[in-house]
Amino acid sequence: MKKLFMPYNKGSFQLKNHVVMAPMTRSRAINNLPNELMATYYKQRSGAGLIVTEGTSPSPEGLGYPRIPGIFSDAQIDGWKLVTEAVHEGGAKIFLQLMHTGRIAHSSNLPDGYQVVGLSDVKAAGEIYTDTGMEQYSAPVALDEQAIARVIEDHVKAAKNAIAAGFDGVELHGAHGYLLEQSLNPKVNNRSDNYGGSIENRIHLTVEIAAQIIAAIGADKVGLRISPFLTSNDMPSYDELEVHQTYLRLAEEINRLGIAYLHISNNPGIPEKTHLGIRNAFANTIIYCNGFTAETAEDKLQEGSADLVAFGRSFLANPDFMRRIEKNAPLIELDYNTLYTPGEAGYTDYPILDVSHII
Ligand SMILES: Cc1cc2nc3c(=O)[nH]c(=O)nc-3n(C[C@H](O)[C@H](O)[C@H](O)COP(=O)(O)O)c2cc1C
Repeated sequence: MKKLFMPYNKGSFQLKNHVVMAPMTRSRAINNLPNELMATYYKQRSGAGLIVTEGTSPSPEGLGYPRIPGIFSDAQIDGWKLVTEAVHEGGAKIFLQLMHTGRIAHSSNLPDGYQVVGLSDVKAAGEIYTDTGMEQYSAPVALDEQAIARVIEDHVKAAKNAIAAGFDGVELHGAHGYLLEQSLNPKVNNRSDNYGGSIENRIHLTVEIAAQIIAAIGADKVGLRISPFLTSNDMPSYDELEVHQTYLRLAEEINRLGIAYLHISNNPGIPEKTHLGIRNAFANTIIYCNGFTAETAEDKLQEGSADLVAFGRSFLANPDFMRRIEKNAPLIELDYNTLYTPGEAGYTDYPILDVSHII
């Protein structure tokens, strides 16, 4: 049997297979509230051993995109309960991805009274989706130390809320140019206090949030996603050795804290030495996600550099992705026009395979 389909047991992590559904923002959370439609979408995809939800904000100021969910109000906790119950009925585990968008935001996407914030006041170049069209990113207001303490507290409360909502854990979004990666990158983080400058200072925010969440909900319920060398969402590249050292130090510190997993996202440009360095520095589960097909994912598991593999777009367009790869059935193509539009179209209406003629 292929490793993809075999159960995965490591520490307190017990999954029915080696496959993870990658986090994907889908913008169906009207008024930032998780709902029945989202529960249906996630349940359809519960063939995965582990589902990581779409990026979900720990606070109103982190809601940089339209219609993304939050996990800071009682109504949001209740909405997420629909999702976690549905996914658990389907036999999968589910982690909530905590995503504070930081400067990757437009002020019109935030609730009234909130402003776009960042580690520093360096504005991102480029445009972001809003419900009235594309807009330039808003200029962020730099968080002062008191505001950083509040951001940390928001993450801890959000993690506790996630557990109250029935999640098996939380994944910190340290990838793709959002708040935590903004703190890692010396070209975006220009602070001169102990959250900026040296590598130790730039990893400080991520490590401190992880440590405080662990104290609140336990290390076995915490994961971290990173995307070394990825430049999307206006993450400027910097000296290759420094990137390597930054992520190695982060992996070492996160290892010391004993979190459940490290999820490496999406970049064929990660040099082998960085990938191996992270692997060697981090003892617990490594999830890898990068344009996999069932075949290349199986190879990755066999080769041993990843413990679990994550699929994004394949799960999006194929709710029964596990069934399809098991039966060698064709995969449905993804419809790019409906990725972020409200409603069922391109969300819960992707076809389920009729296996009656295959079995
Ligand atoms: C529609 C869409 C939304 C995404 N949203 C998120 C997100 O909220 N958080 C995140 O970490 N990655 C997000 N990603 C990246 C995916 O998790 C994944 O890394 C990427 O799609 C590559 O994997 P794949 O080749 O299997 O699709 C998103 C990708 C897509 C296609």
